[in-house]
Amino acid sequence: MNESCYGKFFELMAERAALINLREDKQTNLTEIAPPIDWQALFRNENPVEIEIGCGKGRFLLETSKRHPEINYVGVERALKYVQRAKKRLLKGNATGVFLIWSDAAYFVDRYIRAGTVEAYHVYFPDPWPKQRHHKRRLFRNKVWLRGLTRTLNPSIGRIHIATDHAEYFYEIHDSLTHTPPLVYLPPGTIEIGHIPTSFEMKYRAEGRKIYRAVYQMDSASYKA
Ligand SMILES: C[S@@+](CC[C@H](N)C(=O)[O-])C[C@H]1O[C@@H](n2cnc3c(N)ncnc32)[C@H](O)[C@@H]1O
Repeated sequence: MNESCYGKFFELMAERAALINLREDKQTNLTEIAPPIDWQALFRNENPVEIEIGCGKGRFLLETSKRHPEINYVGVERALKYVQRAKKRLLKGNATGVFLIWSDAAYFVDRYIRAGTVEAYHVYFPDPWPKQRHHKRRLFRNKVWLRGLTRTLNPSIGRIHIATDHAEYFYEIHDSLTHTPPLVYLPPGTIEIGHIPTSFEMKYRAEGRKIYRAVYQMDSASYKA
């Protein structure tokens, strides 16, 4: 989909997008929220914000929010049935400080996130759309998402964490992000990462599949606001 098609697409997306507040058991349609979202007001603290895109059933969000109470977590998921599964899991695990967003990621990031306010994005096992004619649906071919990613990451320390079992898509993402300034590839070992497997990772590891992962960081030296 090219950028000009997004206007119409985004109008449709607005009808199918909501913020889910677990603490208050409240769901608010995004059309009722004036963008950009004020993280400090939402979380009622000044902690850094990290966002998982395509959070699925919420395994990563639950584990990471328990391990890092000093970080505010948001999970974005397009499929309502997974949003509901994630909500159930987070409530059961008492992770009520996490916010869930039912939305297409490109739409949410583009419309609702203020520039420079995200410390990290986590994108684990993004749909690879393996058939050639479906490659255009890949998240990392979406220019609105790529533009939103670099606009919203903290310009000096913002990171994006990627994992996938799909080698061809992994190298496509790597190529895309290393050509998306001011992001730069962080070689393994550059920063300490407490690794938490997602549901897909657990499944694929059990099948013996190789997992590809990488981290990219905003390079403040080359950043121009
Ligand atoms: C292969 S699953 C991986 C789920 C989870 N990250 C894991 O590793 O277990 C991909 C997830 O991304 C979601 N997704 C795909 N495209 C999306 C988009 N544009 N915006 C938000 N979520 C998306 C899908 O609905 C699905 O839940």
